[in-house]
Amino acid sequence: MTTTPTTPHLSVHNLHAGYGRARVLFDINLTIHTGTIACIMGRNGVGKTTLLNTITGLITPTQGTITHTTTDITHLPPHQRTRRGIAYAPQGHDTFAPLTVAENLHVAHQATQRGGPHLIETALERFPRLKPLLNRKAGLLSGGQAQQLAIARALVTNPTLLILDEPTEGIQPNIVAEIETAITATAAQGITILLVEQYLDVALRLADTITVIDAGRIVHTGPRTELTHASAHALMAI
Ligand SMILES: Nc1ncnc2c1ncn2[C@@H]1O[C@H](COP(=O)(O)OP(=O)(O)O)[C@@H](O)[C@H]1O
Ligand SMILES: [Mg+2]
Repeated sequence: MTTTPTTPHLSVHNLHAGYGRARVLFDINLTIHTGTIACIMGRNGVGKTTLLNTITGLITPTQGTITHTTTDITHLPPHQRTRRGIAYAPQGHDTFAPLTVAENLHVAHQATQRGGPHLIETALERFPRLKPLLNRKAGLLSGGQAQQLAIARALVTNPTLLILDEPTEGIQPNIVAEIETAITATAAQGITILLVEQYLDVALRLADTITVIDAGRIVHTGPRTELTHASAHALMAI
């Protein structure tokens, strides 16, 4: 029996990045297949957000390439990556605080113009908790509601790749469960997901592949099934 090789949705090859003379990431190699959930784990300060910022174009790598489907995007500005379908919900669930929930969604939808108004409906289906809050100013939302809005705002851009940086950080457990459900449903739609996640339980439930970074280098990468609680803890305590 032969299997058809599929083109990765995203591949990162020999990536090095940092801030000025401070080098943060070293020889990062990552392959993510379409419709899968790839999870990045590692302790604070190891370079997880730096990797996401490099993939979204906020940081220019000092070496290496980033390929989205078949296009080399290493030097594309962030807005052109968004236009290609790369959406980013950064760490800390920032929203447009003075705007209402509905306005937050409309602004993102209008700015990218990657599909019709059904995208807003679909995003709200993923996060039903936001529906009664459409006229509330985003700045008045709880942390969990704001996180849901941040992800919904990424979804209305009709992404092919959704990048989430610690969407469960500091969020109460019932909302974490809702976010997990939304992530699973989004992946089931065929959207590829790159997720930085601190909580091992969440990663072990959601991820198809888990990559562990320590001190800017990948120390483990493979299918979720290769990791147990014990082995993951050992890797992250290096
Ligand atoms: N804007 C910045 N300027 C300089 N150094 C930074 C900046 N952002 C992060 N760093 C440093 O880069 C390293 C990796 O940070 P980060 O990617 O945010 O880690 P993580 O997301 O894994 O917690 C840390 O040592 C951090 O202090
Ligand atoms: Mg971070």
